[in-house]
Amino acid sequence: MFSRRTFFNVSGVALAGTAAATARPAAAVNRSARTGPGPDHARSEAALSMARRVLLTDDEHTDLTLQYLRLLTGSARLPGKGRRRVIVVGAGVAGLTCARLLTAAGHDVRVLEANGNRIGGRVKTFRGKVWQDPRLRAEAGAMRIPSTHVLTLALADSLGVARRPFHQVDVPPSPDISPGTSRVSYRSWTGELFSTGNKKPYQVGPGLGSRLLHVNGQTVTKAEYLRDPRPVNKSFGWDSATPASQAWAQAVEKTRAYTQTRNADGTWSDMPIVDRVEGMARLLDDLDDMSLHQYLTDIAGWGTAQIQAVGTLENLTSRLSYGLLHSALDAVDINPAVTYFEFTGGTDTLPRALARGLRIETGRVLTSVAWHERGVTVHAAPETGPEDEALHGGTGEPRYTYDADAVVLAVPFAALRHVTFDPILPYGKRRAIIELHHDTAHKVLIEFTRRWWEWDEDTWKAELGSAYRPAPHGPAVPAIGGGCVSDEASRFVYFPSHPSDHDSPGGVVLAAYNWAGDALRFDALTPHDRHTEALDHLTALYGERIRRYATDRCVSQSWLRNRWALGEAVIETPGQLLSLGPHVSTPVGGTLYFAGDHCQPRYHAWIAGAIASGTEAALQVAHAQ
Ligand code: ARG
Repeated sequence: MFSRRTFFNVSGVALAGTAAATARPAAAVNRSARTGPGPDHARSEAALSMARRVLLTDDEHTDLTLQYLRLLTGSARLPGKGRRRVIVVGAGVAGLTCARLLTAAGHDVRVLEANGNRIGGRVKTFRGKVWQDPRLRAEAGAMRIPSTHVLTLALADSLGVARRPFHQVDVPPSPDISPGTSRVSYRSWTGELFSTGNKKPYQVGPGLGSRLLHVNGQTVTKAEYLRDPRPVNKSFGWDSATPASQAWAQAVEKTRAYTQTRNADGTWSDMPIVDRVEGMARLLDDLDDMSLHQYLTDIAGWGTAQIQAVGTLENLTSRLSYGLLHSALDAVDINPAVTYFEFTGGTDTLPRALARGLRIETGRVLTSVAWHERGVTVHAAPETGPEDEALHGGTGEPRYTYDADAVVLAVPFAALRHVTFDPILPYGKRRAIIELHHDTAHKVLIEFTRRWWEWDEDTWKAELGSAYRPAPHGPAVPAIGGGCVSDEASRFVYFPSHPSDHDSPGGVVLAAYNWAGDALRFDALTPHDRHTEALDHLTALYGERIRRYATDRCVSQSWLRNRWALGEAVIETPGQLLSLGPHVSTPVGGTLYFAGDHCQPRYHAWIAGAIASGTEAALQVAHAQ
């Protein structure tokens, strides 16, 4: 029988731990059968090129993050004279970043956006009339920026877009806890340092732990769970005293060993870049065919009960059938130890700032692209009907024609599925457009006239008088930020990170934030039912007494049903990173270029991916002149 150790040794990676005892022969047999006696050259090439993309480097080990930081903040410029006529399709962050860099370098750029009434793509802030109190706002899409996403923060800072902490964990509602403008600094493997000043880096505190876990019919605070995880774990049949977050962090450590070394104190350090590229290529070769579920069973040695427990608490359940790598990368970006920022005026202040001075035409739905040696002709039609959940409206007859030297397609591949190319695109690109898996995400936002989550029990008594009733799960703890986890339909709740927007006494709670299969459970409901169900759930957690402050506004966002996004983001299913990945961002014929977070596998579903890919496309367009 093959041991798990044998399985890994196929690629020569030494992994810590001895999970080998529970190895399943099937994986090893498959693996060794596929590897066979000779090397699979195309697969190794794909692994190497995707490893470079994940690490943002090239065949000379250039640090692309550093290069992009300089371009984005204006300390470097695109090469060449800038004489190309360029159409950028899509005014999301990728398209806008690309258009901005090309315009600054002197190119003749025009941006076409399908939406008639807004730019920003999956950065979308619900503001103004959608709320009873028009001073309020809330995010339908991107809402948090990890402090490690230096591309996003440096770009925002250089555009003057204000930021402040986003509290992933709950903190006391004091007026301002920490300034948002800490320095952005990035130390390259070349030894160079990119830094935007001397301000201290902002560090997150441990959090109050007052938010709730509600699973298998029991409700405890996160602090209670961390103090004694066993009762909750046992309710899944997992008899363990390990907190779910720790179990998940340990499981992904095995992927870290490919590119990092563990120090004596338990921390990890990056290997030199040459070894990281090699290690990442081996990781992809070893693990890209593996789903998260298979990884947890075969490599981490988890049983069903543990998968269900940790999966529920750590938001893995809906992603078990997806490729492992995405969840391993998300584990780096989403955990309680990470510090986050939000844009103070709403996330859409970033695309708005990027759009300043650009030539943008809205209500232009791309219908076809004719490409030839000398350039492209693009046809677009007007948008009719609303953008969201398009049950009426449609795309009119193509009415607009644009000739250009090059086009940057900065829209999701799911959207390109509905565009005609003449001649048809190369085989690999078509396969990527046809097959690449797009995940879905769903948010339900509930407006309250008062910020009850900032109240203690005495305030509740004063507010309710004789109508006062205690909360169902212990006394109220005044807090902002953080959120609850539940195995009900509303999987994750997030509270606002700041005490008040524009002095409004109210606020908006993200009452349900769901991914993948969990999101589908909401997608098919009417907006009214989504709202009712999410409010019922919040009421079960915090008591009937919160209902009196809920307004009747039903604001929800299904990214799958959004007419122009057609999904939340690309999350590859097993095997897709290597089989389709190398074809995703490759330019075609010197005239067609591609951008969007789907082009940047390190940062799928993050603004940083849009920025990196938009910058990369701008460089490609500029180099090709
Ligand atoms: N970046 C987004 C967030 O912070 C989405 C993360 C990944 N999405 C997913 N469906 N797995 O919530």
